[in-house]
Amino acid sequence: MSTYFRWIESMSVGESDIDKQHQRLLSQVNKIEDAISFGATSKEVAEALEFFDKYIQEHFSYEESYMKEHNYPYLEEHKKEHENFIKNNSLFKEALKRGLNPRELILDVETYLGQWWMKHICKVDKKYHDFISELE
Ligand SMILES: [Fe+2]
Repeated sequence: MSTYFRWIESMSVGESDIDKQHQRLLSQVNKIEDAISFGATSKEVAEALEFFDKYIQEHFSYEESYMKEHNYPYLEEHKKEHENFIKNNSLFKEALKRGLNPRELILDVETYLGQWWMKHICKVDKKYHDFISELE
């Protein structure tokens, strides 16, 4: 697998397990970039979407309990963003079932993830990091 995107320290949210989960997401993005370069198959798209199902269960619930544990005041808003990711993943799965060309679908997935990375992980997740680090 090629490395298109690399995790750097400034992406840290100050909690090592969450950072590891974010790093796993980034390697999934790298896999998707490979699939785009070599022509994505339905199987590859399905595998990526399955990864997100697991990621949603493990990562979102971990992150939400971490915020709850620290009485983070914007937990509800944050959960709504997670819910949007879940909804989007369902839409991608439906599109795949409907037979949308996997090469087109993977480009939508790539765009969505790019925005997720920039707007959610690098901004919204950073907000709980700033809040919690001020408590410590
Ligand atoms: Fe989050």
